[in-house]
Amino acid sequence: MNAPQIDLTRVDGVLARHPKGDRSALVDVLHDLQAELRYLPEAALKAAAKHLELADAAVFEVATFYTGFHLAPRGEHICTVCMGTACHVRGAPRLLESLERDLGIKSGGTTPDMLLTVEQVNCVGACALGPLVILDGEYQGNMTSAKLQKLVAPIRKAKTA
Ligand code: FES
Repeated sequence: MNAPQIDLTRVDGVLARHPKGDRSALVDVLHDLQAELRYLPEAALKAAAKHLELADAAVFEVATFYTGFHLAPRGEHICTVCMGTACHVRGAPRLLESLERDLGIKSGGTTPDMLLTVEQVNCVGACALGPLVILDGEYQGNMTSAKLQKLVAPIRKAKTA
């Protein structure tokens, strides 16, 4: 899959919110860039390095160190299945399998139309809600494959409409 074109004015807009040369702001800058672009493309990392007066390698190192940063393009919507122990024993693997089958992608992947990314996480501390799916940051507890399909269907429908 080719990486989508990045609108560098959006990168500049994010960087403008942080003082030039403020190296201590690196993690905040990366968070803000990811919030804007949904992932951290190489061009954005290089722009951040220049803005903060850091070496490219230093910025890449931090971006690859934290699992919360994503260097590959992600979809407009993020569906995360919790695979922690409590969710696992309540059927999370079946949920993930049905989602992967439904969308035709594997966990960590994004649909070819860049609509949905499927990810997994190991416990977000809401075990009582398990099995848990997080769709675009919203916790959806006591999930079943049927409920998950219903949750995702309107997103897919909106895209094809
Ligand atoms: S195991 Fe899923 S929230 Fe804890």
